[in-house]
Amino acid sequence: MEKPLIYITRKIPNDVIKPYESNFQFKMWTSEDTPVPRDILLQEAKRADGLLCMLSDQIDEELLYQAPQLKVVANLAVGYDNIDLLAAEKQSVVVTNTPDVLTETTADLTFALLLATARRLIEAYEFIKDDQWEHWSPYLLAGADVHQQTIGIVGMGRIGEAVARRATGFGMSILYHNRTRKLETEKELNTTYVSFDELVRTSDFVVSLVPLTDATEHLFNESVFKQMKSSAIFINVSRGQTVDEEALYNALKTGEIAAAGLDVFKDEPISSNHPLMNLDNVVCLPHIGSASRKTREEMLHLCLRNLEGYFVGDGPLTPVRFIK
Ligand code: DGY
Repeated sequence: MEKPLIYITRKIPNDVIKPYESNFQFKMWTSEDTPVPRDILLQEAKRADGLLCMLSDQIDEELLYQAPQLKVVANLAVGYDNIDLLAAEKQSVVVTNTPDVLTETTADLTFALLLATARRLIEAYEFIKDDQWEHWSPYLLAGADVHQQTIGIVGMGRIGEAVARRATGFGMSILYHNRTRKLETEKELNTTYVSFDELVRTSDFVVSLVPLTDATEHLFNESVFKQMKSSAIFINVSRGQTVDEEALYNALKTGEIAAAGLDVFKDEPISSNHPLMNLDNVVCLPHIGSASRKTREEMLHLCLRNLEGYFVGDGPLTPVRFIK
C-alpha cells in the first residue's frame, strides 16, 4: 500500500521528518521564511492525505472542499483560528493543534514582554543606540514596577496558569477572568476570579490570552480601554483580532492607558509604518510567543506524531474538537 502523502507548508529540517519517513511520503514547500503561495497550497492539498500547516495558512472552505483525499490537518500552533472547523467537520477532516509543548515558552515570552514594556527596555536600548545618553538622571527612562502590582489574566488556560506562576514569583496579586472558574488554580496559585469589567478596571497589567472566537473578536475595544487605569499596561499574546487596534492606538496616544506590549496583530506581518509602531509606549514583536528552538522542534514532532497517530496509530494525540 502507498504511504500517505503529507504536504508540509514550510521548509523544515530534514532530520525532524527523518524518523517518520517509514510511514509517510513527504513533500514540502521550498522556503523556510516565505509562506507557500495560495495557488500552490490549493494544488498540493488536492493530492495530500495530510497537511502540516502554519498558523498563517488559511485552511478554509475553498481548500477543504477541493481536497478529496485530505484526512488530517496538523496545525503548528495551539491556536487554530486559521482553520474553518465547521468545514473540516463537514469534510470529515481531523484537525490537530500543539498544546502543552509550548505552554512554558509562551509564558516566558508573555512575561518578557510585560517586563520590557513596563521597564521601557526597547526605548532604553534605542536611547543609547541613538547616542542620546549624555547624563545619568533620576527619572531617566523611569518605568512602572512589576513586583507587587496587580496582574489581570484574561483567559486562564494552560498558558494563563503558567503566566500566573511567574507572577507569583514577582509577588503580584493575580486576578483572572475565564469562561469557567478554575477552583484548583485559585487554590494552587492564589488567583482570584473576577468579572471581566472588574479585571480591566482594577489591574495594573491586563494580559490577553483568550483564543480568537466570535465572542472574543474585538473584546478589547474603546469602552474597555476607557475603563482601564491610566497607568495600566496592556499585553496581548493571543490573537490580534481580539483587539480593536484603532481603539488601542487612541487609548495609548491620549494617555487613557500607559503602554502596550503586543506579540500579535490583526493583519500579520505588520510593517514599520503601522500606527502602533510609531508610539514610544508600545513594544511590538513579530508573533514569536512559542519561538524557542526547542519548543518549535517539539511542536513539529507533535504535529508529526498527530499525523502518525491518525494514519498508523490509535488516533491523533491532540485533536481539536469542533464545538457547535
Ligand atoms: C500559537 O501557537 O497559537 C501561538 O500563537 C504561536 O506563537
